[in-house]
Amino acid sequence: MRCCGYDEFFDEGMARRDARRYRRKGLKGSARRIVETLLACGVDGAEVLEIGGGIGAIDVELLEAGAARATVLELSPGYESEAEALARDHGLEGRIERRLGDVVVRPEVAGRADLVVMERVVCCYPDAAALVGAAASRSRRMLVLTYPRYGLLARAVIAGANALLRVRGNPFRAYAHAPATIADAARRAGLRPAGPERGVVWRLAAFERA
Ligand SMILES: C[S@@+](CC[C@H](N)C(=O)[O-])C[C@H]1O[C@@H](n2cnc3c(N)ncnc32)[C@H](O)[C@@H]1O
Repeated sequence: MRCCGYDEFFDEGMARRDARRYRRKGLKGSARRIVETLLACGVDGAEVLEIGGGIGAIDVELLEAGAARATVLELSPGYESEAEALARDHGLEGRIERRLGDVVVRPEVAGRADLVVMERVVCCYPDAAALVGAAASRSRRMLVLTYPRYGLLARAVIAGANALLRVRGNPFRAYAHAPATIADAARRAGLRPAGPERGVVWRLAAFERA
């Protein structure tokens, strides 16, 4: 149950803005919290899979902190050239592999990894249970993800944004998913919560293999 409009919404322009911002200011708050959570558990020698990884900034940070290699899976090809430039600038081009595809629709597109990351991705996908289940089943050790708080305000903002996209004829839609749906999908794939869900606007949930 994949939606559409990813290529148009997450395009080269967005990739350029993300890369410029990262070069100037470093990781955004929610992404920084993902990295801090993983560093606290240890990343030395780890294989990382980032689903919906955009320019791959989280992977750059994890590799520079001692992870062995990273695979970044994306639906949109718009990030590729900025991501390659970023990896090159950090001397990491041989340690980051990029793939295009949807792990729910084409499970073979991504193998297993020690650490699986999804930063602000679940809210871009209609079927949270399928996406989180696919991510969780690929994790040997941890899955860390962020998603918007499931409150009335956040749901109203998402509904407003979708109305605007509809008026503009843009087929992309954002989704509010209940944290229980996310946690259940992770549990069904054999993971258990590694600490409480936390964060004000972007909630972070970490799971570990039971
Ligand atoms: C809001 S962007 C976040 C990008 C990056 N994680 C960041 O925080 O800058 C969401 C990304 O998830 C990707 N995405 C959504 N569903 C996906 C899926 N099933 N597989 C791979 N990528 C997906 C989209 O293409 C988009 O680039």
